[in-house]
Amino acid sequence: MSLPDQVTLVEVGPRDGLQNEKQTIPLEAKLQLIGDLAEAGLRVIEAGSFVNPKWIPQMADSEAVFAGLRRREGVRYTCLTPNLRGLERALAAGVDEVAVFGAASEAFSQKNINCSIDESLERFSDVMSAAREANVPVRGYVSCVLGCPYEGEIEPEAVSRVTGRLLDMGCYEVSLGDTIGTGTAGSMQRLLQVLLAEYPAERLAVHCHDTYGQALGNILVALQHGIATVDASVAGLGGCPYAKGASGNVATEDVVYMLQGMDIETGLDLDKLIAAGNRISQTLGRVSGSKVALALSAA
Ligand code: HMG
Ligand code: MG
Repeated sequence: MSLPDQVTLVEVGPRDGLQNEKQTIPLEAKLQLIGDLAEAGLRVIEAGSFVNPKWIPQMADSEAVFAGLRRREGVRYTCLTPNLRGLERALAAGVDEVAVFGAASEAFSQKNINCSIDESLERFSDVMSAAREANVPVRGYVSCVLGCPYEGEIEPEAVSRVTGRLLDMGCYEVSLGDTIGTGTAGSMQRLLQVLLAEYPAERLAVHCHDTYGQALGNILVALQHGIATVDASVAGLGGCPYAKGASGNVATEDVVYMLQGMDIETGLDLDKLIAAGNRISQTLGRVSGSKVALALSAA
């Protein structure tokens, strides 16, 4: 067992978190959140999504978000781009990095991005070529790596195939999405055994939704396998609109607390992070989804 000395947290709250909100979120609240997250030490922040606004209305103002960013040096502001149209919008908005998002499940691919896995990979390859020309790095996501809301169990080999295609076409990293949070330490271990036989841990990240309360356990297994990039969402914001019942990502505060206890460096200030999560939770009119934030705010 070799744990990483240092972990990069990819903050997805402003995108994965807010995309699923029913209420309209004022632009200023989004900008405040992104600013607070950078101030807390996050260096990769997924700030928006250039998808069809009819599908995801909460991300319709992504141009305005990028235009209004109070950029902080050393922070990468990233976004989702499902197709060339999305990439063009993202480049015009001045993003630092983009991400394509596919799935290991055919049914989920159809529901989420309205095409088959193979069709999505063709689209991504066009996105990739254009991004390369523009000198913008591309991250890849694979959804449903530990279960699908429509197909149930997903074979690790199916995840491996899509992961391999994304890495081959030039994604610098693939984030493994447990979209509906059904994974356990056992299924995560079985998945990683298959993937790590093919791809280096440095090219993989984990993206665990906490629907079944398993995210921290699954992340620990990933760390034990040498994976050193973890996606998280401040205050546990979010879910996926095309995965019914999916709750938010693991709360960034909870991951940082666990990593601090393991002496793993994150570069984050936990108090500032908790304040960021509490502020957006207050804006949304609810209590934080981070247990650590609740415990430390009550103390
Ligand atoms: P489509 O309907 O198949 O696209 O959508 P189309 O090419 O047929 O175009 C239809 C309309 O969409 C046209 O407009 C296009 O201009 C417009 P109309 O003529 O009807 O007025 N359009 C766009 N507009 C703005 N920006 C664009 C764009 N593309 C087309 N980029 C598409 C295909 C992929 C665009 C659509 O299905 C879509 O936007 N899906 C979004 C799905 C989504 O955002 N899901 C949530 C994010 S994924 C996630 O949360 C999982 C993740 O967190 C990992 C995990 O947890 O597993 C990443
Ligand atoms: Mg997600």
